[in-house]
Amino acid sequence: MKPRLLVTRAVFPEVTALLAAHFELESNPDDALWSRDDLLARVRDKEALYVVASDRIDAALLDAAPRLRIVATGSVGVDHVDLDACRERGVIVTNTPDVLTEATADLAWALLMAAARRVRESGDWLRDGHWKRWAWDQFLGLDVHGATLGIVGMGRIGSAVARRARGFGMKILYHNRGVAPNEAELGATRVGLEALLREADHVVLVVPHSPATHHLVGARELAWMKPAATLVNVARGGIVDDAALVEALRAGRPAAAGLDVFENEPALEAGLLGLPNAVLTPHVGSATRSARLGMATLAARNLLAWAAGAVPPTCVQAPASAGTTGQR
Ligand code: DGY
Repeated sequence: MKPRLLVTRAVFPEVTALLAAHFELESNPDDALWSRDDLLARVRDKEALYVVASDRIDAALLDAAPRLRIVATGSVGVDHVDLDACRERGVIVTNTPDVLTEATADLAWALLMAAARRVRESGDWLRDGHWKRWAWDQFLGLDVHGATLGIVGMGRIGSAVARRARGFGMKILYHNRGVAPNEAELGATRVGLEALLREADHVVLVVPHSPATHHLVGARELAWMKPAATLVNVARGGIVDDAALVEALRAGRPAAAGLDVFENEPALEAGLLGLPNAVLTPHVGSATRSARLGMATLAARNLLAWAAGAVPPTCVQAPASAGTTGQR
């Protein structure tokens, strides 16, 4: 008998077909918004779950799914999964690293450039019919070429952001718990968080969200930043204290921010939408067809490997193995 799999969100048809060949599938083809109670009811008889980053997999859900053996998330981030609770119950957790690295680094750069050069603000002004003539001081932004870039979290995505920075002739600083093995190749220098925030003209956050990184950037850290700086977050909401960021952006320190992720997304911090110096996108870091299909397929391959009795290719945590990987 095929194992029972719940797929919580509508996914590419070719991936559904792949899964349907190996699992007894309950899927969500209309991408309906399931309530938490709906979800708890649907997991009850399942051995496997195919989820996304907005599905909270906690002890209560695991208790409602006594047969569950594997959670495959279509995301590199696993902060929505209670890894300890999974380990205790012998549930394997897999994620989707690598396949989204370049797309997410591209979006970090799109946000950085848009924030630094006031692309959204000046574009809105034009559309609103204010453009009557050219002026020397119209929408002066910040230099990107030759500036100092600070990367918080030099993992896969951080390294891809750094590689692009070399083309802009930037000095690269990074903050990591340990020395990045590729720092020489990237021409990057490791510094403390305070030094990075004080020195960088553009700061990109690419660190996983965990209790250790929750509100890593709050009011105190924002005050360390140069006034003429930008802050970009393509990692996770919760790394930045959004209420503190709204206040800081109102005061123009930092000058601008590019944000793809938010503390309580899809809800936004009050005041954020009204800020002209905030460039906002709806968690689309990995949103290219090739990256999203890569993520969806890798999550499926993990499930197929498990169903065949093999070790899934990108296990965050297998019950028998020690340790976890959290790098983005
Ligand atoms: C990830 O993979 O963690 C992205 O944020 C998509 O959810």
